[in-house]
Amino acid sequence: MTSKIAVIGTGYVGLTTGACFAHLGHDVVCADIVPEKVERLQAGDVPIHEAGLTELVREGIEAGRLQFVLGAENAVGAADFVYLCVPTPQSADGSADLSYLQSAAREISAHLQSGTVVVNKSTVPVGSTHLVEQAMNRADIPVVSNPEFLREGTAVDDFLNPDRVVIGADDQAAAGRVAALYLGVRAPIMVTDPASAETCKYAANAFLATKLSFTNAIAAVCEAVGADVNDVLLGMGYDHRIGHEFLRPGPGWGGSCFPKDSRAIISIAEDAGYDFALMRGVVAVNDEQFDRIVRKVGSVTPLDGATIGLLGLAFKAGTDDTRESPALEVARRMIAAGATVRGYDPAVKEVDVEGLQIVEDPYAACEGANALVIATEWDEFKWLDLDKIADSMAERHVIDARNLLDRGALRRRGFSYQGIGRS
Ligand code: UGA
Repeated sequence: MTSKIAVIGTGYVGLTTGACFAHLGHDVVCADIVPEKVERLQAGDVPIHEAGLTELVREGIEAGRLQFVLGAENAVGAADFVYLCVPTPQSADGSADLSYLQSAAREISAHLQSGTVVVNKSTVPVGSTHLVEQAMNRADIPVVSNPEFLREGTAVDDFLNPDRVVIGADDQAAAGRVAALYLGVRAPIMVTDPASAETCKYAANAFLATKLSFTNAIAAVCEAVGADVNDVLLGMGYDHRIGHEFLRPGPGWGGSCFPKDSRAIISIAEDAGYDFALMRGVVAVNDEQFDRIVRKVGSVTPLDGATIGLLGLAFKAGTDDTRESPALEVARRMIAAGATVRGYDPAVKEVDVEGLQIVEDPYAACEGANALVIATEWDEFKWLDLDKIADSMAERHVIDARNLLDRGALRRRGFSYQGIGRS
């Protein structure tokens, strides 16, 4: 059954939600507050790097099932469902800033027809579904929580082939209507109360961040005792209770979600009277990981006055997003220690890090460098011409923070090699 859906906010969650619902056959209107963005999107020009999204946006526009308008009030009038996909950035005290969500709710309230279901997809603290209800002040409009579990870079695939759909509602009829929107998707659909759905989102991200900090901590143990973390994790992962996924050691975790959501759940728990010490440890291990990478570089060449080539700036491969990128955290710390850092990334062409020079190809990053750091796991770094790099660097040192390169091939060319959790 086709429904009319309005999506408020065209960030990667809103845009993916809108384009995928249009792909599933619904009529979708997406609203944003930035006129140039709306114009670009309506022309099929997608401003973010997200696999398959441009194709779906164009497919939706051409089929007449997807359009973009300026201002939330212009999108919601005929809608059966309104998806709120606005940002919930971190405030100074670590809690989530809900002002965008509340003002979007207030703004649309008077324009909704009776019975429209408002669905919150933004990541919000427990209790926010009720906060949206209050901001709307309309007894005839049910508000439902439907958290997103999309990863950047694979958001379209995650939306269309999810592990599960979680719906939190006090109004069972409204929950059923939201569940019906996903009829074209094969996944378990779970209906619960709003607080449990909201907590589920934070708990999932907090658990994954915990898994990663644990992985990086075990890598540090492996370095100390002379074990190989790759083999240790493989041996652990065969236990189906642990699994192989999300066990890749790295320079620390980053992005627009884990850092923000980890701090937020600490603050949510604290406000509710629970000291989430475990999660504080998870965040501390991550901060420490950035320093560990910098110390590895400093162990092969004094940072003050050194030139460091940095391959990878995005917080992970497959995206051009540099928000809370470990690569940039490491760059900042090396620059503060007196190094000149030359960075290259296949998808990132500018960053806001004082003193970080961006170059156009990976070889330019290596030219004259005292050490090379691999910070993002882009495939193309695996196929670099190592002879060319060896000839162009001032000193042959590689710090591979993603365990990506062939250490044997590097050592044969006279490089010193340090990965994470393996020598
Ligand atoms: C994350 C979650 O994975 C999604 O399920 C969630 O919906 C999303 O946050 C969100 O809350 O919106 P995302 O931030 O796109 O998705 O990135 P991930 O792929 O989860 O990676 C996060 C960080 O962990 C990256 O810095 C990545 O490099 C690092 N990572 C991931 C590792 O270091 N090792 C791994 O094995 C996996």
